[in-house]
Amino acid sequence: MTFATILSRSQQGLDAPLVRVEVHAGGGLPAFSIVGLPETVVKESKDRVRAALANCGYELPAGHITVNLAPADLPKEGGRFDLPIAIGILVASAQLPAGPFDRTELYGELSLGGEVHSIRGVLPTALQGRRAGHAQIFPAANLGEAALARHDRAYGAAHLNEVCSFARGMHPLPAAGVPHEGNAAPPVSDLADVQGQPRARRALEIAAAGGHSLLLIGPPGSGKSMLAQRLAGILPGMTEDEALETAAVRSLAGRGFRVEDWRQRPFRSPHHTASAIALVGGGGRPRPGEISLAHNGVLFLDELPEFDRDVLEVLREPLESGHIVISRAGRQAEFPARFQLVAAMNPCPCGHLGDAAATCRCTPDRVMAYRSRISGPLLDRIDLHVEVPRVAMEDIARAVPAESSASVAARVAEARARQVARQGRSNARLGGSSMAQAVRAEQSALALLGSAVERLALSARAYHRVLRVARTIADLAGSECVAAGHVAEAVTLRQLDRRVTPVICE
Ligand SMILES: Nc1ncnc2c1ncn2[C@@H]1O[C@H](COP(=O)(O)OP(=O)(O)OP(=O)(O)O)[C@@H](O)[C@H]1O
Ligand SMILES: [Mg+2]
Repeated sequence: MTFATILSRSQQGLDAPLVRVEVHAGGGLPAFSIVGLPETVVKESKDRVRAALANCGYELPAGHITVNLAPADLPKEGGRFDLPIAIGILVASAQLPAGPFDRTELYGELSLGGEVHSIRGVLPTALQGRRAGHAQIFPAANLGEAALARHDRAYGAAHLNEVCSFARGMHPLPAAGVPHEGNAAPPVSDLADVQGQPRARRALEIAAAGGHSLLLIGPPGSGKSMLAQRLAGILPGMTEDEALETAAVRSLAGRGFRVEDWRQRPFRSPHHTASAIALVGGGGRPRPGEISLAHNGVLFLDELPEFDRDVLEVLREPLESGHIVISRAGRQAEFPARFQLVAAMNPCPCGHLGDAAATCRCTPDRVMAYRSRISGPLLDRIDLHVEVPRVAMEDIARAVPAESSASVAARVAEARARQVARQGRSNARLGGSSMAQAVRAEQSALALLGSAVERLALSARAYHRVLRVARTIADLAGSECVAAGHVAEAVTLRQLDRRVTPVICE
């Protein structure tokens, strides 16, 4: 035989299109070429493959070896094609039988000694391989990740020799087996440490229950960052589908996916110097950004006004659509980005506006300039805006344990279960059409909301957001219908909208 085809997959966003690695071992002068739009790392593959084959005791065929990665118009990146190329050469030069590689996909970067090194993006690849009904051989180090796809014909190999002995029927390869169970309780700080702040604690509970976005505003040291960091400890658990989506995105990122993180809601807190690309994703070979890495979890932006305004503006679209499409010359990648935005800020540059214990030294112009770094449309997309006042020193010193994260989490889980049973998703994700059926508000509640909209000049978007928050408040109370009291509380939790002091609700 002088020709062989081995299957593999490329990586495009969360998609893993099939690639046929065709190898022709022909006559003529010795040469080795790889064609089919390969990037630099793939081009270097021939040096790694040549050395790995030699060091494992195989012969490189004497003539011209041509490797074609088809389809040619699909960009190919990374070292994942080393193993299929090496095996293709061995099959094409009749050093290995072709049969064992029929309907089998191969992945792995080779070291010069023949070890199979881990690759990125195994989970999306394993999911697509399972759907296609193909067997798959992954680097042994990625086997835990492949197991999450529940593919019973996914195997692992740590060395090129292991794949060769498997092909000769000498040694079976280890199968992926049962997926990791996931860590039940993520190691996060407890809400019991937070003294006072009943309003902010309540807002945090509502945000967790309905998946709502939240902005905390208060003077320095009042506990905003402390509260936000405790959100991860009260969020409801992830479903298998959510966990798979989140793990698939993580497996594409620089550090790759760690099996210990399985079923843990992401909590991402990028620094305010982050660029737009770091936040939404991008690069020559599109990679997921912070908003996608926070998919099904929390994106925490501490010191919100310190972020570049243009950087914040790019959040507007994914906040509504739940995904981001990154277009680069010749390629496009789509990543999911359904994240819960939590942000914290001071009320003014010195931080003491409205603070009873300190005097604010900012001029109205400076306060305006500071706040205008966050655009109206972005603010409009945040469901809850809550003030976090300073807690009296003696209260902090007393350090009486407050309600723990575990007991808040129990209420949150119950309220979320009601939402999923009713509409199959969290209240924050209720769309326009599903809204009317799901919300079921009493007449008095709608009348109160109508007058609040007029008084506060709320936008249509804010109207719907208040209604969704009111639905969550009703769910926390175990109520079928949204009552006037639920709407009243939801309105008080949008403080930045209250340009005039409302007489309702308080
Ligand atoms: N309500 C509170 N209960 C207990 N400790 C608190 C509380 N508020 C603040 N602290 C203490 O103050 C520290 C600072 O709080 P934190 O970092 O959350 O403040 P912040 O509001 O984010 O301030 P800044 O605006 O400067 O970022 C906490 O680590 C904690 O020790
Ligand atoms: Mg802070």
